[in-house]
Amino acid sequence: MKETLRVGVIGCGMISVNHFKAIRRLEGAKLTAVCDIDPAALEKAVSEQGVKGYQDYHDMFADVDVVHICTPHHLHAQMAVDALNACKHVLCEKPMAITAADAQRMIDAAKHSGKQLAICFQNRYNESSRKIRELLDSGKMGKVLGGSAVVTWDRGESYYGKAEWRGKWATEGGAVLINQAIHTFDLLRDYAGEIVDMKCSMSAKRLEDVIEAEDTCDMLLINQDGGRFLFYASNCGVGNTPVQLGLKCEQGEIRLYGNRVTVKMKDGTVTDEDYSSGFTDGKDYWGSGHGFLMEDFYRCLHTGDKFPIDGDEAMKTTILIEKAYTQHCQERRRAE
Ligand SMILES: NC(=O)c1ccc[n+]([C@@H]2O[C@H](COP(=O)([O-])OP(=O)(O)OC[C@H]3O[C@@H](n4cnc5c(N)ncnc54)[C@H](O)[C@@H]3O)[C@@H](O)[C@H]2O)c1
Repeated sequence: MKETLRVGVIGCGMISVNHFKAIRRLEGAKLTAVCDIDPAALEKAVSEQGVKGYQDYHDMFADVDVVHICTPHHLHAQMAVDALNACKHVLCEKPMAITAADAQRMIDAAKHSGKQLAICFQNRYNESSRKIRELLDSGKMGKVLGGSAVVTWDRGESYYGKAEWRGKWATEGGAVLINQAIHTFDLLRDYAGEIVDMKCSMSAKRLEDVIEAEDTCDMLLINQDGGRFLFYASNCGVGNTPVQLGLKCEQGEIRLYGNRVTVKMKDGTVTDEDYSSGFTDGKDYWGSGHGFLMEDFYRCLHTGDKFPIDGDEAMKTTILIEKAYTQHCQERRRAE
């Protein structure tokens, strides 16, 4: 019989619902507490989930073994450090942190406490993404020579109007790249291998009067073998187009469109599979992996295995995102 881990969620806004749903389905985990500084959000979560509520997250720690962080970006690092220092395991929503220095504080706290720190890049757990990872690991495709990824979604004035922290440098740390497109960026980075150079441009094309940061971003990433990877993301989309990602490999090409993976081998063999069937949570255009990720996280907590998307792994994406924003700010200063 598995020990039941008591789970507390900090931040009862939009994404907390996915956490509540996924926790409910897990064996060996039970939601016991929620926390929010907004009394209305807290009251709603308390009454819907039937658990204890806290306005100060520090007070919640006594009641839980695992803390899920679902708050605005600028709060992730300190909340994670505090939870780890209180000897709690942590699952933190993306982005890990706004800066690599903050992310390093989280890694150090996890090492010091001996507790697990996991970052919620749930799209790595989509069945389509896992299929691509499996293909690359099998050696069948040979080396990845280059690739591209495109995210075009619609986030307008009303989306940014719903929460004060969005679209601001201090609290979101950017916009489309660090928030909406981070999952696809993380996937491309993971498939590409080590990124040794990057060039990035950002602009606000539609929302310049609404947000401080970018609504559109494009990048060229170079990996350790000189392979080129193009990345384009925009919140100016007409609707939310499924994510597109392509990889050119020595032995063939892989294309991802939403949940569909098409593989064209050099010998002419083509396979085309739709992995939508495993859809568990959320919106299909941003992935269905929350449930799968949490299953694996809690499996690791019960077995003592290391969760694969830990602080060190998420740090690789954090560093590149920080570099992209640094380049953007330097460009802006030069232009002024
Ligand atoms: N994994 C995904 O696909 C995905 C999707 C959406 C959002 N997210 C991430 O989830 C996080 C939250 O996003 P959201 O859209 O749910 O935001 P939201 O604004 O809807 O909710 C955030 C909640 O945190 C609460 N909060 C703020 N400060 C707090 C504090 N000091 N203590 C306790 N609660 C506090 C707010 O009152 C609010 O209820 C962000 O990191 C976001 O990027 C992830």
